[in-house]
Amino acid sequence: MDAADVRDDLVEVLFTESQIQGRLKELAAEIERDYEGKELLLVGVLRGAVWVMADLARQLTRHVEIDWMAVSSYGSGTKSSGVVRILKDLDTDISGRHVLVVDEIIDTGLTLSWLTSNLSSRNPASVEIATLLRKPEALTMPVEVKYVGWDIPNEFVVGYGLDYRERYRNLRDIGTLAPHVYS
Ligand code: PRP
Repeated sequence: MDAADVRDDLVEVLFTESQIQGRLKELAAEIERDYEGKELLLVGVLRGAVWVMADLARQLTRHVEIDWMAVSSYGSGTKSSGVVRILKDLDTDISGRHVLVVDEIIDTGLTLSWLTSNLSSRNPASVEIATLLRKPEALTMPVEVKYVGWDIPNEFVVGYGLDYRERYRNLRDIGTLAPHVYS
C-alpha cells in the first residue's frame, strides 16, 4: 500500500518510495566502492530490515551473500533493560568474513550496539552497519555506523518495514504516524 491508502493515519510523508530507492542506490554505490575485491555478507535484522535488505541488495551490481538474525530485548518489549537475546542466529560462520549488518532504523542504538559487539566476537574480517534511518536525538549509546540513509527527528515513523503493532510494514513510503493512531 502507499501513503494515500492510509492518508488519515499519517501526519506527513517523510520519504516516498522513489526517494528511498534513490538513496539506496547511492548507498549501494558506496558499498561497492568500499568492498571492491572483497567477499561481502549482508546480515539483515528481522523483521523490519526485510524491505531495505531486498532493495539494497538488488541495487548492488556485484555478488553478495545474505543471512538473517532475529533479536529481542528481554522483558515486556521495552528496551530499557539494555539486554538483548538472540531469537534466530546466523546460519553462516562469519569468521574471516566481511560482514555488513543491514537494518532499517537505529533508535536508541541498543540493538545494533549489542549486535555488532556479538558479531565482532566471532572473528570476522570486519563488521560494519548500514541503516536506512537513524534518530540522533534518541541514541543512548554510541554506535559506529558506516552507511546512513537519513538522520531523522525523534518521531514515530512507520512504513517500509517500520511498524506500529505489526501494521504499516507494507507501506511503500515512510511517514510520521498521527498521534490519534497510538494515543
Ligand atoms: C527495530 C529496528 C532495529 C531496532 C532499533 O526493530 O529494526 O533493529 O528496532 O532500535 P534500537 O536502536 O532502539 O535498538 P524492532 O525491535 O522494532 O523489531 P522489528 O524489526 O521486528 O520491527
